Amino acid sequence: MEKRNDLGIDNLVKYQNYIEDLYKESGTLSQKSFIDKTEWKDFVPVIEDDVVRFLKIMLQVKKPMKILEIGTSIGFSATSMALIAKKYGGTITTIEFNPLAQKQAEKNFLRYGVDKTVQIMYGDACKILPQIADESFDLIFQDVENRLYPQLQQDCVRILKTGGIFIADDTLFPVMDLGEQLKDQVEPTNQFNHMIANSSQLESTLLPIGDGVVIGIKR
Ligand SMILES: C[S@@+](CC[C@H](N)C(=O)[O-])C[C@H]1O[C@@H](n2cnc3c(N)ncnc32)[C@H](O)[C@@H]1O
Repeated sequence: MEKRNDLGIDNLVKYQNYIEDLYKESGTLSQKSFIDKTEWKDFVPVIEDDVVRFLKIMLQVKKPMKILEIGTSIGFSATSMALIAKKYGGTITTIEFNPLAQKQAEKNFLRYGVDKTVQIMYGDACKILPQIADESFDLIFQDVENRLYPQLQQDCVRILKTGGIFIADDTLFPVMDLGEQLKDQVEPTNQFNHMIANSSQLESTLLPIGDGVVIGIKR
C-alpha cells in the first residue's frame, strides 16, 4: 500500500493558511475584529479562529443548555459560543479571577448583545470547581492556565453530565516551540493529555486545530 506523504511543518503552515483564507469572508466573529474592538490589550491570548468554528459546530449539533467555561480572558470564546447558545436558549457560566479581564469581558458581552446569555463567576477556579455540588453541565470548555488542567480534571468530569462534552484548548503545548514563559506548562499539559487518553470516563481524541483541542464525551 502506498504510504501517505509526510505532512511536514511547511505543509502544515500551508494547510492552515489555505483554511484561514477559505473562511476569511465567512462572517464568523473573528479573533482580530474582536481584539481590535477590545479596549484592554494586556490579556492572556484567546482561542484561534479555527477553534471558534469548531465550537460553533459542536454547539449547533449538541445544543448544550448549560455550558461551563474555565478561563474567560476578554470573553472571546464565551461570546462566540453565546452567539449560538442564545438562539436555542442555552446559557454559559465562565470563570475568571483577573478583575481587569472580568471587566473587559463584561463590556464585550454587552457589545455583542450576549450579556443575558453569559454570566461571569468571579474567583479562582481551583476553589470554585470543588465547591460545585448541586449543578452539572452539558458542555465544559477548559481554557484556564494549562498548569491547572490536571488538578481540575477530576472535578470537570464529576460535574459533567453523562453524554456531556468536554473540550480543552492548548493541548499540543508538549510538541510546540513555546517561549520561555510557557515552558512550565509543558509537563502539566502532557500529564493532562495522558489522563484524558487513558480515562475510563471519557471517550476522547486530540484534534490538531488551534494549539491542539481535546474533545471528549462522558461515558
Ligand atoms: C487562555 S485565557 C482564556 C481565553 C478565553 N477562553 C478565550 O478564548 O476568549 C485563560 C484565562 O484564565 C484565567 N485564569 C488563570 N488561572 C485562573 C484561575 N485559577 N481561576 C480563574 N481564572 C484563571 C486567566 O486570567 C486568563 O484570563
